[in-house]
Amino acid sequence: MCGIVGYLGKKDGIKSVLLGLKELEYRGYDSAGIAAIDIEGILIDKKVGRVSKLEKSLKKSSNKYSLAIGHTRWATHGKPTEANAHPHFNTSKNIFVVHNGIIENYQEIKDLLIKNGYKFESETDTEVVPHLIDYYYNKTNNLEKAFELTIKDLQGAYAIEMISTLSPRNIYIARLGSPLVIGNKNKEYFIASDPTAIIEQTNKVRFLEDYDIAIVSDKGLKVKNLRSNKDSKSNFELLEYVSEESSLGKFPNFMLKEIHDIPKTIETALKGRINVSKGTVKLGGLDSVIKQLEHIDRIIIIACGTSYYAGLVGEYLIEEIAGIPTEVQLASEFKYRNEPISRSTVVIAVSQSGETADTIAALKKVEEYGVLRLGVVNSIGSSIARMTDAGVYCHAGAEKAVASTKAFVAQTTVLALIALRLSKSKGLLNKKVIKELDKLPKLVEEILDSSDKIKTVANKYKNNKDFLYIGRGYNYPSALEGALKLKEISYIHAEGYAAGEMKHGPLALIDESFPTMAIATDSRLLDKVKSNIEEIKARKGPIITISTKGNRNISKLSDDNIFIPSTIEQLQPILVCVSLHLFSYYVAEGLGRDVDKPRNLAKSVTVE
Ligand code: G6P
Repeated sequence: MCGIVGYLGKKDGIKSVLLGLKELEYRGYDSAGIAAIDIEGILIDKKVGRVSKLEKSLKKSSNKYSLAIGHTRWATHGKPTEANAHPHFNTSKNIFVVHNGIIENYQEIKDLLIKNGYKFESETDTEVVPHLIDYYYNKTNNLEKAFELTIKDLQGAYAIEMISTLSPRNIYIARLGSPLVIGNKNKEYFIASDPTAIIEQTNKVRFLEDYDIAIVSDKGLKVKNLRSNKDSKSNFELLEYVSEESSLGKFPNFMLKEIHDIPKTIETALKGRINVSKGTVKLGGLDSVIKQLEHIDRIIIIACGTSYYAGLVGEYLIEEIAGIPTEVQLASEFKYRNEPISRSTVVIAVSQSGETADTIAALKKVEEYGVLRLGVVNSIGSSIARMTDAGVYCHAGAEKAVASTKAFVAQTTVLALIALRLSKSKGLLNKKVIKELDKLPKLVEEILDSSDKIKTVANKYKNNKDFLYIGRGYNYPSALEGALKLKEISYIHAEGYAAGEMKHGPLALIDESFPTMAIATDSRLLDKVKSNIEEIKARKGPIITISTKGNRNISKLSDDNIFIPSTIEQLQPILVCVSLHLFSYYVAEGLGRDVDKPRNLAKSVTVE
């Protein structure tokens, strides 16, 4: 799950590549590197750490280099070291490669190359690629052929760029299972793992498909598909581009900014989609498939991480509001399961980035079943947005912090809208949900205004080593999401549990040093949650509750309490999770963590 970029033109390639790398840092940030060629020679620079470190080092070079490739890494094979950072090269240092993905048969290739006298400097899977190109070049004396033969030998997932002094005005590119986009502006070409990295430079783009190999040169773009063995048209499309506010403004980091974006995020997700007085929902993205949706009898939601928890809330919403049996599956599990799926099933992929490898693989798996595939995606033009039959965009804007906050809220809001759109009844519940959805931005503002109180509670508990989160019904997913968020950014061990499961194991963990965050908002299941709280208290476990404003009975039960404004239980996960996101944020901040870029993680998980 790395980010790759490239530039070919007449201008400053280093500047363009650095610009792209900074945008792609969400894909990995343990090391970064660049290779560039022009008449002055070759430049290669790699640094362990962030792109800013590479940038600082590159400032020493006065040359602009009109051909360059760059990489920001999230380590899969080998530790984050300079030797393992990309670009990788052959022994003669005239072939340079950056790669996103995993070469599954790299050991086999490495063994063959070693037998042929090749020497390796890194522990990566990628290093086999430049050596294999070199191997084939020595046999064919044709770089294009050598690149193609190499790509045909690779198994796994990859987005690859190669440059070489043997052909210094070409960038060779290949894609299988990892996204790649090529941008064009007059005689300049920009290559990147996703459009966000180049959109500031051009919105004229061409997405590559699986098995495509391409050459970008001063003569233009040439694309060939290795599966069909045919040249593909190099038609560029214009991407709809909305300039985003990418600066932090008054906020110290993106996570806090994005939590504060949430009222606006909900407004945008609802805009033009709900009619409060009529109690109706309109989702343009589903219009083309609405007839098919009338005949479905099962929904499978597939997702990973926080998107999976949004999917779980969606499951409760769709079942209750639309009455359609729904289940949520982790994409990484779903893709390897052999379960019967009938054609009257709809698969909904939920993904912020639209690039998560497991979710993409799960969608590909159901291709042959002929089922309708919908997307609930945030990133416009992303792989999932393009491969699904229809869908509803979240419109949350760019989410930069690794831990998802506003995108989770947008996904949950959109899933509520889908539930309403699929509902055949226009009954009381539907009207109530629409009315309450409309109020949500204001209610989130109230929570944001009470941030100081949440911060005080977070500071009191920040040195605890473990945490349990419990909830029931709609707030069972909230408990899971709350625990995940604490783990992700504070590195404190946290588990989310269905409150009713406490007696089946987790209760054994409870003592004075093991706090529980109990979600005890007003709902049909509140009395049951209260009993669970009593059981924890009886074992001396500290209790923090999240309760509905005005319900003093709950705050009396707990050591500390966080209020959320009153709303219907179907929409409580949104308010509860905003509070839990703030709680995790303040714990992590109090511990001095890098909240936007937690250790070992990446924003977009583009390898399985
Ligand atoms: C990573 C991110 C999470 C995200 C998950 C799924 O783990 O750090 O924030 O929820 O991937 O990503 P997606 O883009 O598919 O929602």
